Amino acid sequence: MSSGRKRREGRNNYESINEFGGGRGGSGGNSHNGAGGAGGQGMGASLVVQTRNATLHTNLRVDLKDFRDVVKQLSQPHNASAPYPQEDMPSPHRIFYGRKALVNEITCLLATERTSRVCITGAGGMGKTSVALAVAKRAIRKNIFLKEHIFWVPCVEAKSPDLLRHILYAQLRITAETYDGLEPLIAELDASKQRRLLLLDNFETPWLSSNDPAKVREILVRLAKLPHIALLVTMTSGFTPGDIKWQHRPLAPLDPAAARDVFKRKYRDAADEHELVADGPELDELLASIGYIPLAITLTAASGGCLGISPDGLLRDWREEGTRIMSGNQMRSMDDTIRLSMKRGIVKSNPEALKLLAILSLLPAGTTGSNLEWWAPALTPSRRHVAVKTLRIAALIEQDHGPFATSRIFVRPTIQSYMSHQGRIPAEVRKPSA
Ligand SMILES: Nc1ncnc2c1ncn2[C@@H]1O[C@H](COP(=O)(O)OP(=O)(O)OP(=O)(O)O)[C@@H](O)[C@H]1O
Ligand SMILES: [Mg+2]
Repeated sequence: MSSGRKRREGRNNYESINEFGGGRGGSGGNSHNGAGGAGGQGMGASLVVQTRNATLHTNLRVDLKDFRDVVKQLSQPHNASAPYPQEDMPSPHRIFYGRKALVNEITCLLATERTSRVCITGAGGMGKTSVALAVAKRAIRKNIFLKEHIFWVPCVEAKSPDLLRHILYAQLRITAETYDGLEPLIAELDASKQRRLLLLDNFETPWLSSNDPAKVREILVRLAKLPHIALLVTMTSGFTPGDIKWQHRPLAPLDPAAARDVFKRKYRDAADEHELVADGPELDELLASIGYIPLAITLTAASGGCLGISPDGLLRDWREEGTRIMSGNQMRSMDDTIRLSMKRGIVKSNPEALKLLAILSLLPAGTTGSNLEWWAPALTPSRRHVAVKTLRIAALIEQDHGPFATSRIFVRPTIQSYMSHQGRIPAEVRKPSA
């Protein structure tokens, strides 16, 4: 796992502060007009006052942060050492378009016990966490859950059942004599019949990368057995974690109109409020070619806005450099997100799956299960099925709804570009007859 991704969701409201180093004002400063709009005044005395104010402001901020840390420590129960550092739930993103119907639908599902096990799946950067945070906000507003009864459980680092259990104890603020078992946690959750919502984010880490998947499954099943505990799980995968009756919501890319709105708002933010001028068909073409994927739109708009590149220029860059133009800042890049999916044990241990990914990356429109026989003749039918399933589990390819033989199997443009621009398609796949 890249360190850039680690704990990235834990930063409260990081996006609205200065997600890509090109945001407005913010503590990171701004590459366009210097600190906090001071440009233009230029008088010596005024500068001294401003500098002193800035120092005072910085000191106060540091002191306030220390103070908050102390209060947080003191508010932890003191009769047992914390099992894991507790992490606040990130604030919902400020710029959020195109998911209203889905957010309403999931909020309604969570309101009823019978339907309150919801799992959002989808490729890396499709916007799963953003939807989940928006649902949490709406559920509070609609009085479905009290704010203090919604628990953020970031699982991106939970590579073992032990870690997962410790994170659960920490996030639910439950202390016990030891954290070796789940009983105290289950007993505490069961003690009150108040409805609570657990938001388990990036559950693919324990599910796909843990050393003991059976134990991870057991933890999830025990939580799901508590009828008054609602679960909202996000997974960078094509499948839900088994043995639970999920309300499964696979996340699709944004529709073109929402993608446009997102691009323009994020471009303007990064360009220090300068509007995007050329927003005609070239912008539509750019958005279509990056597959309307929210992370791809966010990173492309941020780099375009920051450097002042038009959609036309970005389109040319995309054709030449692919996902390299979506490098964002140290926090997150498109390549990191894809690399993470490719590094899953299930993928690495199946060379046929990687070869199939290379083959599918050469087919922008995708193909059907039955036509795979033609594209990958070396694989027997059952090995083809296994390879497709493996890639879907890792969220590297998608399959439309329907029978294997006739439904479309395809690779999203960002993954396609990652494969083809960076030498990941072996020569024998490119030119089978050579
Ligand atoms: N509907 C949206 N409108 C605007 N921006 C969005 C939307 N959805 C997601 N984004 C932005 O796209 C980026 C990726 O979103 P998010 O982190 O929610 O994706 P994810 O699917 O949870 O990713 P991962 O698979 O890595 O966990 C974020 O910067 C987020 O602000
Ligand atoms: Mg996420």
